[in-house]
Amino acid sequence: MAEASRRDAFNDVKRETKAIDTSRKLKVAIIGTGWIADSHIVEYKKMPDIEVVALADLVDGKAKAFADKWELPDAHIYASHKELIDNEKDIDLVSVCTYNRTHAECAIYALDHGINVILEKPMCVTLDEAAEIMKAEKRSGKLLSIGFQPRFDPNMKQVREVVQSGVLGKIYYIQTGGGRRAGIPFPFGTTFLEQKTAGIGAMGDIGCYSLDMVLNAIGYPKPLTVSGYTSDFFGKNPNYSGYVKSGHSDYSQLFNVEDFAAAFVRLEGDIILDFRISWAMHMDTAGDTLILGTKGGLKIPSAECWSGSIGGPMKIFHSIGGNLVETEIPLVTEQEHAFYDKIRSMIDAIKDGGTAPIPTSQILYNQAIIDGIIRSAKEKKELTIELPEI
Ligand SMILES: NC(=O)c1ccc[n+]([C@@H]2O[C@H](COP(=O)([O-])OP(=O)(O)OC[C@H]3O[C@@H](n4cnc5c(N)ncnc54)[C@H](O)[C@@H]3O)[C@@H](O)[C@H]2O)c1
Repeated sequence: MAEASRRDAFNDVKRETKAIDTSRKLKVAIIGTGWIADSHIVEYKKMPDIEVVALADLVDGKAKAFADKWELPDAHIYASHKELIDNEKDIDLVSVCTYNRTHAECAIYALDHGINVILEKPMCVTLDEAAEIMKAEKRSGKLLSIGFQPRFDPNMKQVREVVQSGVLGKIYYIQTGGGRRAGIPFPFGTTFLEQKTAGIGAMGDIGCYSLDMVLNAIGYPKPLTVSGYTSDFFGKNPNYSGYVKSGHSDYSQLFNVEDFAAAFVRLEGDIILDFRISWAMHMDTAGDTLILGTKGGLKIPSAECWSGSIGGPMKIFHSIGGNLVETEIPLVTEQEHAFYDKIRSMIDAIKDGGTAPIPTSQILYNQAIIDGIIRSAKEKKELTIELPEI
């Protein structure tokens, strides 16, 4: 699915939702009015208890153009997250939709000013930043949720339900990841391609979703060690067919993140995670997701799990009375409403005094794995993952 139509799929959600209490309205701001901010505003506009009152973007005129496009004539426009937060005194919630490199500073500044945060995925770039974000969350007492909308996809929920049912027994091996044969995301600008904006490449864009799918299914055990590999053979190649076809061959000069990563990660509970993710490779797929347990194995067909879907019905492989048996789990075909739910669940948590729907205590481990892969790849050896005290 092309990137634009993938986003449109998020936006096209029409369904009955539970009655919303409009007696208390929340004031919301959006920081970073680029590509994914469109998906946030579409969902906010469906909610009668939300007023989007302020917008910020570093690029001159971008937040104003966003306000015009989405018919928000009363929204206050700012040139940075700091300017917005310094001037808006009664914001309840901010969507941080900036590129990865500024996730930490925007989230920390908002939390330190008493504002709840929905932070787009990946949580940030480094494990140190993740620790700083969590410290700010702790001292603020506010809620911070990380934007992994596939958590709310019915098929993704089934992955977790199958594993948590115990039907697979003790989990000991997981293969996950996958990715694209030709899918470096540059048609929408270059913010995904550069260290100064993205900080991480394929892992931050799509790999973090694959990690979340399997780690969430098995209850987010601690990562212990990592042996990682990263490469950039396609992105750095001026003759890369993706660039040549689009007429953007100059992007190879800018490109300085990974377009492929692979790793073995040892998890608490004696589980081995075999991970690989690709933006570009000479292969149709880097494989299905496999979860092997002592009583059964789950195969999740090669999944674009970042767009909230799996590639076909899942199968459990097991043995009954000595017979080798396969159980197919039918795909849920109801219309996806994951993006709405990721935002609504956070708003409900704020209004009802609940907890963050996708908590940093889990996503810290996701970030620790990515951080570990990058460091291990640089040092060319297996590393111990040191988790920070928060
Ligand atoms: N959940 C999803 O499905 C999904 C999909 C795409 C992207 N994303 C994530 O969303 C984030 C943004 O991606 P995008 O494609 O919208 O990028 P983008 O480059 O289109 O937009 C980011 C915007 O943030 C602005 N910005 C950066 N720092 C800022 C600051 N301090 N104050 C104000 N504005 C600032 C930039 O000027 C830019 O306009 C990334 O982290 C990406 O991983 C999530």
